[in-house]
Amino acid sequence: MDTRKLDKIIEQYSNVPGQVLLTLEAVQEEEGYVPKEAMCYISQKTGVPLSQLFSVCTFYAAFSLKPRGKHIITVCEGTSCHVRGGPRLREALLDLLRIPSAERHEKSITTADRLFTLETTRCLGCCSLAPVMMVDGNIYGYLTPKKLPDVLKNYEWEAP
Ligand code: FES
Repeated sequence: MDTRKLDKIIEQYSNVPGQVLLTLEAVQEEEGYVPKEAMCYISQKTGVPLSQLFSVCTFYAAFSLKPRGKHIITVCEGTSCHVRGGPRLREALLDLLRIPSAERHEKSITTADRLFTLETTRCLGCCSLAPVMMVDGNIYGYLTPKKLPDVLKNYEWEAP
């Protein structure tokens, strides 16, 4: 991340309550994640220990230490979705997004082009629509692998 941008952010939140949180939030907003180099730079400039910055980033779910995609897909792995084909749906999604098999077991997967980040959850609160997934806050229910391309096309995805 550009150090001029970082300096501006650091200056903006210096001497205000919640400085650490606000600074990290601004970096997350700007980059889509909090790069390690940015954390080191903030630590040097503010005197806040790196360990404290790291603790904040790992405690709050809003922060990510890895680059995230432009669109966030959350696949439900709850019981209702599981029994109604959730695992098949996830597999089809991984195929469509061309996720290498070595990465498929990870909790958060980002496509190489950083268009999508795929995550899972225990329940999206709409079990009657199972199997369900959410993209950027929009719920898609009664899904089948066949319906997935049409959903993804709404988010700039192009069929290979
Ligand atoms: S189990 Fe999937 S929405 Fe509840």
